[in-house]
Amino acid sequence: MPLDERGYYGRFGGAFIPEVLHRSVALLEQAYRKYADDPDFLSQWHRLLRDYVGRPTPLFEAKRLSEKLGLRVFLKREDLNHTGAHKINNALGQALLAIRMGRTNIIAETGAGQHGVATATACALLGLKCTVYMGKTDVERQMPNVQRMQMLGAQVIPVTSGNMTLKDATNEAMRAWCCDPGSFYIIGSTVGPSPYPEMVARFQSVISEEMRSQLKEQTGNENPDAVVACIGGGSNAAGAFYHFIESQEVRLVAAEAAGLGVDTELTAATITVGTEGVLHGAHTLLMQTDDGQIIEPYSISAGLDYPGVGPLHAHLAETGREEVVAVTDRQALDAALELTRLEGIIPALESAHALAALKVAQFNPGDVVIVNLSGRGDKDMAAYSKNL
Ligand SMILES: Cc1ncc(COP(=O)(O)O)c(C=O)c1O
Repeated sequence: MPLDERGYYGRFGGAFIPEVLHRSVALLEQAYRKYADDPDFLSQWHRLLRDYVGRPTPLFEAKRLSEKLGLRVFLKREDLNHTGAHKINNALGQALLAIRMGRTNIIAETGAGQHGVATATACALLGLKCTVYMGKTDVERQMPNVQRMQMLGAQVIPVTSGNMTLKDATNEAMRAWCCDPGSFYIIGSTVGPSPYPEMVARFQSVISEEMRSQLKEQTGNENPDAVVACIGGGSNAAGAFYHFIESQEVRLVAAEAAGLGVDTELTAATITVGTEGVLHGAHTLLMQTDDGQIIEPYSISAGLDYPGVGPLHAHLAETGREEVVAVTDRQALDAALELTRLEGIIPALESAHALAALKVAQFNPGDVVIVNLSGRGDKDMAAYSKNL
């Protein structure tokens, strides 16, 4: 992993935080360094991943889709995790860390609601108090997940600033953390001040660790020609790419949300249209005006509707290690229907962007391509019914 001791990936990363959070972030950093390689901590987390989450998730060869595209497509089935997405891998890791630090009050932000549900689930399991900030627009478009969080005992606070989506929820969660630095903020993506981007990537790296051994078992080779993942803040992509970053022969393809198109004002394609700045504690790429005001993002997918991106991805894209494609709402919707009809799997709208990238990026006939199917589509049925 191309990370230096100050928490930078090349020029991107760092910890740009208010004075009041310095101590909290320093204590988090200490605890993360202490436990990241601690055998007891790791064995407790791995046991939960196996017996509670249901890992390893299958690597499924999608034969009908492969035939149609002229590729050999494998799907990493993160949609089959308990709670329906990759988010639970990280939420459990951070919740266990919170307990090691003696913290019992948990704060989280959520966009699509999957990280909120994962955090509320971890808190129910481990007996922690949970408060989730969620933009009001997202509360409305991801209602099944709001109801799940509430049933799990979490307090869901609708946020009404900005365009009432993920950025605004993150602002509010950070504000709550400042008011109560003794609480533990479980961030749901590879964003935020160092050590969050690295910690979240590490908890998600279990995805590519499994991919390698599963692909070897099925094809005799642990390296595919390409790995494709959608990218909001970047956690499922970071997990899917992690163990392939040093293998230069494996292409890493990130699919960001173009919304209505990168040449319109309604987009969330941060790497394609963004410029350098500081957002939510990290120096990274973000969508901003010439005088540094955040441009409100847009995507049909609540989980990709974010004006920033994790510093790891800003770095990998800048150095050319990661290819970035922008996928429109329409392309994602079509890809979701295609997967559903060919393979009987309804993907999350976020994951549908990765599937659409199979047609947007260029591949050679017969290429072995793993798509990280980051989540399932139950939460998106209202959007699918309206738009398909
Ligand atoms: C199923 C799913 N995939 C992807 C994402 C995007 O987040 P990230 O880029 O951190 O993986 C989300 C976010 O909510 C999600 O729910």
